[in-house]
Amino acid sequence: MEKLTERLLLREFTEQDVDAVAGFRRDPRYLEYYYRSPYTREECARFVDKCIAWSKESPRCKFQLAITDRSNGVLLGDCGVRTENIESRRGDIGYELSPVYWGQGFASEAVRVILQVGFEDLDLDEIEARCVVANKRSVRLLHRLGFEETERISPGPGRGEFADRILPERCVFLLRRDKWIERTHVF
Ligand SMILES: CC(C)(COP(=O)(O)OP(=O)(O)OC[C@H]1O[C@@H](n2cnc3c(N)ncnc32)[C@H](O)[C@@H]1OP(=O)(O)O)[C@@H](O)C(=O)NCCC(=O)NCCS
Repeated sequence: MEKLTERLLLREFTEQDVDAVAGFRRDPRYLEYYYRSPYTREECARFVDKCIAWSKESPRCKFQLAITDRSNGVLLGDCGVRTENIESRRGDIGYELSPVYWGQGFASEAVRVILQVGFEDLDLDEIEARCVVANKRSVRLLHRLGFEETERISPGPGRGEFADRILPERCVFLLRRDKWIERTHVF
């Protein structure tokens, strides 16, 4: 899949992207809300491999796309929408940018596209996002795109890839299809 926006090209990952991902995933600003040591190059290579494998699944239920600057091809970060079960019509999103590119609206521009992939290509009814309460940039992004907070999770063990960590207070955000359709014209 490839998606163009005003400033970005969202595209599938390739093995050549590992160094760029490893480059920002060791930045202390990026790591502030992940409560872990810097990602190793091997971990980033596994992440990129996983994204490539998802792109080959059929039916496809996970999209994790590289965010690149359409003017020069530089990788700025990535974002994705995933569902464990197409029939559930529920999915979640994730997004990350190299700190070098924060504060310019690139993540919001990319996540708008990934929401469209979720609601149109995956035909989801609702999309969830989880976020550490203190991660204000991420909270602002979710509000900007129309997400509403539905739940607070007290500090405690994470889930999935965070299962080995004790996480601080987190919030669960939700965007429903009808709200997304309503807002699409004013994004
Ligand atoms: C979460 C994260 C992607 C947010 O990045 P971000 O740069 O703040 O978000 P955007 O790229 O959408 O930029 C929005 C900001 O750019 C500003 N901006 C500047 N120029 C802009 C432009 N031309 N268009 C739009 N916004 C612009 C906006 O005003 C906004 O600033 P504000 O939040 O102070 O109001 C980033 O902090 C990150 O990667 N963090 C590490 C990973 C992470 O935490 N992921 C989320 C896990 S839940």
